[in-house]
Amino acid sequence: MSLKSSDFVYLENISKSFGKLEALKNVSIKIERNQITSIVGDNGSGKSTLIKILSGSLKPSSGCIYIESKSYKYLTPKIAYENGISTVYQDLSLDNYRDAVRNIFLGKEITKFGFILDYKEMKKQTEHLLKRLDINIPYINTPVGYLSGGQRQSIAIARSMYQGKKLVIFDEPTAAMGLKESAAINKLIQSLPAKGYTVVLISHDINQAYEISDRIYMLRNGKTVRDSIKENITLSELKRKIKNDN
Ligand SMILES: Nc1ncnc2c1ncn2[C@@H]1O[C@H](COP(=O)(O)OP(=O)(O)OP(=O)(O)O)[C@@H](O)[C@H]1O
Ligand SMILES: [Mg+2]
Repeated sequence: MSLKSSDFVYLENISKSFGKLEALKNVSIKIERNQITSIVGDNGSGKSTLIKILSGSLKPSSGCIYIESKSYKYLTPKIAYENGISTVYQDLSLDNYRDAVRNIFLGKEITKFGFILDYKEMKKQTEHLLKRLDINIPYINTPVGYLSGGQRQSIAIARSMYQGKKLVIFDEPTAAMGLKESAAINKLIQSLPAKGYTVVLISHDINQAYEISDRIYMLRNGKTVRDSIKENITLSELKRKIKNDN
């Protein structure tokens, strides 16, 4: 198996069983560099299981994971991190009592003399990062618990950009968000490839996935139904094909 230079990750024939339940059956997924790849599917179709395998928190029962020129039977969170893979989870795991600066640097704080927190430097870098990502947080010293869902999501995204750096996985980033906030998050995600990031998006919403991604994989009962590079298929064709597959 050799990867093209545009390929970042290739998941080959991944299967995962939980006891008798086969959550994933021979799923192969290619993630190209600087593109948005979406994985869509109903509840229980295997999306989170696949993402946990890619982020190193679950071991596949069989299959192979290729990242750039390396191949792995399974990843660990450390290996995923070292390969620049980070995940924005649905619960965001933000610390509501701390501000944007402290959340972005959570666990990776900058210190002076190795023990004094350098808040000034972290704040400067936060401002720079938010500006580069075009994220508007009115008061970055406000505890994030007071911010809106979209603002909190933006901070979680900024943290991944800061801490992960290459491939960012989003699990349902706009679930439970209003139209205006979803539109802002979609715009932010769409701007990432041009800034050098590769994106994997997990979504229930095929309209959202189609709108913002380059390639879509549909999972049903742990199998891929089809993948589609957007250039080759219209949204209505895709919806029709998915229906006919039922
Ligand atoms: N740790 C586990 N132990 C047993 N079964 C599991 C485990 N994790 C997931 N499953 C099962 O595997 C299947 C796939 O689950 P998964 O969470 O990947 O679905 P999903 O596509 O992310 O669904 P949703 O859209 O609801 O988040 C489901 O039937 C689920 O119950
Ligand atoms: Mg899930």
